[in-house]
Amino acid sequence: MGVGSGLAEKDVKELFDRRVIMAPMAGVNTRAFCRMLIDNGCDFIYSGLLTSHGLVYSSNKTEDMIDSLPEAENLDVAAQIFGATPDIMAEAARIIEDTGKADIIDINMGCPVPKVVKTRAGVRLMQNPELAASVVAAVVKAVRLPVTVKMRSGWDSRSINCVEVARMCADAGAAAVALHPRTRVQRFGGCADWTLIAKLKAAVDVPVIASGDVADPESAARCFRETGCDSLMIGRASMGDPGLPARARRLVRDGVPAPPPDFRKRLSDARRHLELHVADVGEEKGVREMRGPLAWYIKGLYGAAAVRVKINTTTGLEKVNSLLAAFEKRLADRYESDSEDDTN
Ligand SMILES: Cc1cc2nc3c(=O)[nH]c(=O)nc-3n(C[C@H](O)[C@H](O)[C@H](O)COP(=O)(O)O)c2cc1C
Repeated sequence: MGVGSGLAEKDVKELFDRRVIMAPMAGVNTRAFCRMLIDNGCDFIYSGLLTSHGLVYSSNKTEDMIDSLPEAENLDVAAQIFGATPDIMAEAARIIEDTGKADIIDINMGCPVPKVVKTRAGVRLMQNPELAASVVAAVVKAVRLPVTVKMRSGWDSRSINCVEVARMCADAGAAAVALHPRTRVQRFGGCADWTLIAKLKAAVDVPVIASGDVADPESAARCFRETGCDSLMIGRASMGDPGLPARARRLVRDGVPAPPPDFRKRLSDARRHLELHVADVGEEKGVREMRGPLAWYIKGLYGAAAVRVKINTTTGLEKVNSLLAAFEKRLADRYESDSEDDTN
């Protein structure tokens, strides 16, 4: 547990004791989607990337970023910041801490996007472990909240150094380390190498959080078993299935399995997400920005491709809602007429 942190070591262990966490997802973990996650029982969310420069130098941006952090009772929230200048990262963390909206400050060491790595931030920090450790030390010194780090396995297959960097971050005061075991070069290709999570767990004393390729409650249980991780994150599989983190938690912690959502639940989630996002950003922008997310909810359902094309060319909340309602009716005719026959 880091010097300067407000939580005792025991409390940090508890905070990360077999938790199923919504992974940080820039552009995905909007206010509306976080509300969907919370309403479906998720109790731990990492925000998407918040720029440390933006927080420190632009008050408009700061307001928007802070506003985007979810709030709810019994919810743990980690605010993830990125940057490579220790002082600015420390100041950004302080700004977040002062709002009282975060329980954890997380430092991004995994973002592969050129715009971020060219500023030496994101996964680029892993190529400079001393700088990475300085950033952690500065942030830990600046705030009382626990400070975590989320990293990849390394830059490329010849420079896998997550264990070394994680050790240095823990020595600098990081309270826990999350690992998405793919390199920067891999981006999202290939498979997450869970053996690296097990290696990391054996190498550091702080809690280890697994991230990568947890697709359903069963793979969450397998990830805990195979890696020995303390907690894990679910990212892409939650897109269009905001109940997934809570279902995985129930299986892992209580041994209670739950079926995936049927088409009715998926479509009602789609409509609710749309309504929440439109309420946040206005109808025109909201409907446009929801084209991607609506596609998550209907993916794999019979006839989804044609509906997606229609949604992508439709403006107006009412029209999109009508498309979704008509789609739901077609699916009901297709899937539920059989079962009704069975009961007659
Ligand atoms: C659209 C998208 C946005 C992401 N944004 C972030 C981010 O802001 N910060 C971060 O640390 N990781 C980010 N990630 C990585 C995820 O947190 C996670 O580590 C990765 O997707 C692997 O987990 P998964 O297989 O459960 O998706 C993002 C991934 C995706 C697909």
